[in-house]
Amino acid sequence: MYSLARELLFKLSPETSHELSIDLIGAGGRLGLNGLFCPKPASLPVQVMGIDFPNPVGLAAGLDKNGDAIDGFAQLGFGFVEIGTVTPRPQPGNPKPRLFRLPQATAIINRMGFNNLGVDHLVERVKAAKYRGVLGINIGKNFDTPVERAVDDYLICLDKVYAHASYVTVNVSSPNTPGLRSLQFGDSLKQLLEALRQRQEDLAEQHGRRVPLAIKIAPDMTDEETAMVAVALVEAGMDAVIATNTTLGREGVEGLPFGDEAGGLSGAPVREKSTHTVRVLAGELGGRLPIIAAGGITEGAHAAEKIAAGASLVQIYSGFIYKGPALIREAVDAIAQAQRAGK
Ligand SMILES: Cc1cc2nc3c(=O)[nH]c(=O)nc-3n(C[C@H](O)[C@H](O)[C@H](O)COP(=O)(O)O)c2cc1C
Repeated sequence: MYSLARELLFKLSPETSHELSIDLIGAGGRLGLNGLFCPKPASLPVQVMGIDFPNPVGLAAGLDKNGDAIDGFAQLGFGFVEIGTVTPRPQPGNPKPRLFRLPQATAIINRMGFNNLGVDHLVERVKAAKYRGVLGINIGKNFDTPVERAVDDYLICLDKVYAHASYVTVNVSSPNTPGLRSLQFGDSLKQLLEALRQRQEDLAEQHGRRVPLAIKIAPDMTDEETAMVAVALVEAGMDAVIATNTTLGREGVEGLPFGDEAGGLSGAPVREKSTHTVRVLAGELGGRLPIIAAGGITEGAHAAEKIAAGASLVQIYSGFIYKGPALIREAVDAIAQAQRAGK
């Protein structure tokens, strides 16, 4: 059925079809209809960051940036839903067009630039949702906040979303906000992590609940850089790492229509890079911090591959656009099968 919907949706511009999909998934969620079209995935409970997940396959950040369709996405069978990236103030993002499909490569290039309605809107949407499952809230900085003041933006968002999130993701890896990725390195990273950890402690006391912090990283670092991030995360007492965001690389899309558009590339071409990053992290971390894997999962087997590389949970975005909700169940089944086979 999704192939028919996809045929219609792909006739529209990527951004129009994105907005329409969010509206439809949101409306289906309000009416409680989405579950009727999507057989529920098998139960495959897992505990990560002290949180119980009904299955290890989640929605990656960026699809529901404002939290407008939380119930709808949850009803499709995701084990967890991550909303955002949200910034302190609303912002329009980059000029359109800024979202490109590359169907020959099962890929997407985007330079959305954190278009979102701001953290206050998102918190209202979370409060209005009926969903009581695992909800990640992904936070970032406004494009016009100087990178030296980025910490302030993350803290504003953390304060506001803390009470409403199962975990909070700190996004330092979007390629579309100038300077953002520099926060993944050296003293900038250490200062950011220290400020976040301190605030997390204060908020935990205030709310009587410790909300885990996950840091989302890029697939474009050298192995040495990735290993250094891993060490910094452990030293700073972070709770998880999400690997990865989109890539600036263009391997696999050279010569394709839109292949040289600026922005982050996701989907099939980023799969190996992302899995490699997971492997490097897993080697360095040795189980001290859980890894949430995202990047290029377009088939169930790819989800199992991420778990085999050392991840505890996976997230999907581009694969969901190309394969639809059936991919959720397929991924859960593949992970369950690999576990049964002892892989
Ligand atoms: C259109 C688009 C928008 C995205 N927006 C965000 C975002 O706001 N925050 C974020 O952390 N990741 C964002 N991502 C990255 C995804 O969450 C994911 O990490 C990446 O696309 C790799 O997974 P995939 O290959 O399954 O898409 C976005 C991806 C796409 C395609």
